[in-house]
Amino acid sequence: MTRTDIPTPALLIDVPAMERNIARMARFFAGRPCRLRPHFKAHKTPEIARRQLAAGSCTGLTCATVSEAEAVAGLCDDLLIANEVIGADKCARVAALAARVHVTIAVDSLAGLAQIADAATARGVVVGVLVDVNVGQQRCGVLPGADAVALATRVASTRGVRLRGVMGYEGHLQPIAGRTERETRAREAMQQLTATADAARAAGLPCDVVSGGGTGTYDISGQVAGVTEIQAGSYVLMDTDYARLDLPFEAAFSVLGTVVSRPTADRCVADCGHKSTTKDHGMPSVKGIPGATVTSLNDEHAVIALLPGAAVQIGDRIELLPSHTDPTINLHDAFYAMNGNDVIGVWRITARGYAEHRQP
Ligand SMILES: Cc1ncc(COP(=O)(O)O)c(C=O)c1O
Repeated sequence: MTRTDIPTPALLIDVPAMERNIARMARFFAGRPCRLRPHFKAHKTPEIARRQLAAGSCTGLTCATVSEAEAVAGLCDDLLIANEVIGADKCARVAALAARVHVTIAVDSLAGLAQIADAATARGVVVGVLVDVNVGQQRCGVLPGADAVALATRVASTRGVRLRGVMGYEGHLQPIAGRTERETRAREAMQQLTATADAARAAGLPCDVVSGGGTGTYDISGQVAGVTEIQAGSYVLMDTDYARLDLPFEAAFSVLGTVVSRPTADRCVADCGHKSTTKDHGMPSVKGIPGATVTSLNDEHAVIALLPGAAVQIGDRIELLPSHTDPTINLHDAFYAMNGNDVIGVWRITARGYAEHRQP
């Protein structure tokens, strides 16, 4: 099977480029005190996670949801759900996982702590906990310092859970294009986190894990003394939003479409609308057609402005480079794994649409 045989719209992965990204990231962390904990939510694909783990420098995997953790529990025995887990059903699923592998979740409230502790004690297991600290993203998390230490103290004295440390995701800083500003602000954010970890230790609490970071800050936060692991995800495939930055990773995925209409000299339309590529972070880019830009995405249509005279015909294949990795991949069931024009595999995106919903 080659590129021309693939039914469109379809998600392609450039396997050699992906492998170079994985190897570059693993090399960066080799021999450092800080480890890599690749974020599975970026791709939700066990075939990719397997390669990330095999490349080394990893301390486990990061997940965003319980269903992602369930999807990789057979691959890795140290999973961090870097997110709050709320609801008796989800907490029971975490407890069931904890009977098989080491699972740690983020907690930022006494209510959340009580829920996971109840589920863990009912199951007779222990679930790891990182106190989620707000290092400036203004999403979840308690304030650094005294508030975080107070919650950590409660975690440490609660049955069914084990305090492992703190986590703080500096997500608001990942997209800053200027290296100097990104570096200064990421260091400040991580120093709030490491200072909180120090305060917890000074209060006699265990705090072995200090977790944060992403693709935009892996080599900044990953070198702050006291940060023990980095949760980067997008580096493995790279989107156009991250491509604006000074990162050493290559675009390794694209959405393949077919030109279905060429209504005017300066416009064509392809069959890959926003049901196959996200508009989050802006329009996708068009690969390999000089001057071509996506002007709008409808459900099933990508409208593309062309330079006059562009040699684009109905039936041609085009490739879009998405603006945001995670929400694009979440639209697809599988990747076509490519080596040049050859399809070398079909990789299921198993954690997308995964059994989150059950029959009543
Ligand atoms: C908690 C958390 N950690 C890490 C990341 C890093 O992801 P990426 O490397 O894809 O930016 C994210 C992304 O949203 C996240 O939510």
